[in-house]
This record gives sequence, C-alpha cells and structure tokens, in this order.
Amino acid sequence: MTAQLIDGRHLARRLRARFRERVAALSARGVVPGLAVVLVGDNPASELYVANKVKACADCGVRSFMHRFHMDCRETELLDRIAALNVERGTHGILVQLPLPPQINARRVLESIVVDKDVDGFHLYNVGALVVGNSIFPPCTPYGVQLLLETTGIDVAGKNVVVVGASNIVGKPMALMLLQREATVTVCHVKTRDLAQHTIHADILVVAAGKPGLIKAEMVKEGAIVIDVGINRMADGRIVGDVDFEPVRERASWITPVPGGVGPMTVTMLIENTLRSAERFADGEAFHPPQPFWQVPAG
Ligand code: GUN
Repeated sequence: MTAQLIDGRHLARRLRARFRERVAALSARGVVPGLAVVLVGDNPASELYVANKVKACADCGVRSFMHRFHMDCRETELLDRIAALNVERGTHGILVQLPLPPQINARRVLESIVVDKDVDGFHLYNVGALVVGNSIFPPCTPYGVQLLLETTGIDVAGKNVVVVGASNIVGKPMALMLLQREATVTVCHVKTRDLAQHTIHADILVVAAGKPGLIKAEMVKEGAIVIDVGINRMADGRIVGDVDFEPVRERASWITPVPGGVGPMTVTMLIENTLRSAERFADGEAFHPPQPFWQVPAG
C-alpha cells in the first residue's frame, strides 16, 4: 500500500479563501480583526514562526501588531503590555511566542491574557475547557491536525489513536481533542518503554516528538493514518519530520508530508481563532475588559 498524501498547503489555501470572506463581512460591520504578537528576544526559530504568522495575517486581511521585547526584559514589562492589549478595542487576539527567557514566569504571562483574546488557547481556562470539551480557542497545531484528519473522511470515534509526544502545546491538547471525539487515545512520551509496542496498534498515529526518523515503517500498522507534526532542520538544511517518510508511506493509508502537512495548518488555525474572536466581539459574545479609571481620558 502507498499512502495518499494529506495536503496541508491545499487545505490551508482553501480555508484562507473563506477567511477573506469573513474578514470582508466583519469589515462591512466596521470591524478589522487584529492580532497582537508578543516576541521576547531574538531566537531565530521564534523569529521565523512569528514572521510566518504576521505574513498569514496580511494574506487574510487581519491586522497584526508586533510587540518586541529585549531578551533581558522584566516580567512586569510584559504583564503591563498585556494588560494594555487586554483592553484595547482593535485587538481581538493576543499571542505570546514561546519559549520565554528563564527570568520570566511563562505561566503567569499566559494567565494574564484575557480568556476572550487567548487565540493560542494556552490560558488555563482554555486548557480546562478542552478537558470538558467546549473550548473557545483550541490550540492551533492540534486544531489543524483535527481538520487534516477530517479531510480523509475517516471518523475517529472508536479508533485506536496513539499520540507520540506529551507537550502542552501539541501532545496533551491533541489527546484531549481526540478523546472528545470518542477515540481510544494512548499518549506516549520520552519515558515510554517500547514505543513500537504502542504505535503498531494505532489506526491513527500522531507524532510530535521533535526527533527526526523516530517512527520507522515496522512501527506502523498496515493502513494506518500517519500525522507528522515534527519540523526538524537537518545539518544539510533539509526540513524533515519525525517519521521515516518514504518507508512509512508504503505501509500507511494516509500520511502528511513535511514540509507541507501540519505546518501550514498551524498558522492557518491561528487566523481562524483570531477571526472567531473578532466575530465573538462583534456579536456581543465577548467583551473588552473595562479600561482602568487611571487610563480613561479625563472629561
Ligand atoms: N512556540 C512553539 N509553538 C508555538 C505556538 O503554537 N504558539 C506560541 N505562542 N508559541 C509557540
């Protein structure tokens, strides 16, 4: 069997065409969706991710605002800026690019974003909402994977799903979202013994470990759907996933390529969440917090 490709670029393009229509509809109501992007330091990977997010916003007609901070900035500087963005009328989404430098308590920063603007879905409220199955903003990467899985036409209910990687950004929320859709979910992580013993039973295998070549063909069940979330830059400059692509493709029924699979969907779902946020504000389902009285102009 040679797997069919799940084309993330194609799906992202189709979704973005619809986003432009939603932006036009919002514009007719006097609303321009706005995303604030907070970047601390000059980590090259973070710079690249953020550049892609800003580009995707421009592509869809969403306004983006960069807020750059020095690597040595204090936590209070970030908290003050987020407090201002929380009340700002033109800001519908606030994204703090991770990781943050060690002097900053990332949890405290993420918790300071108002839930109605938490388009990354990292606030504890949104994480908890995911547990009970009614989150406002699902985290972008697992959200993108969910849509990619839908394109295969396969119902995840009752399927054995194995998620490799238990990060807060991908593995854990992915497992919760699939559990909500009634899959039987196993989560493997760095301490899992005999990874293959688990992966071989997967009808759907989602790999987000950040280890090139981790998943070999003999670890994959014949006919499985394989979603590769890994993005690894090799010494020769090539970008590869966590799955040994060519041999695994010969066993799977569907597989995502890297690049061109999950990556384009992550950024696209950020735009989806930002639009959803702007629509919630426009529909009176979300509210900007009141401005502190000392910031309201006198008179
Ligand atoms: N760092 C790595 N992935 C992500 C992401 O999806 N969102 C944010 N904010 N930071 C990240």
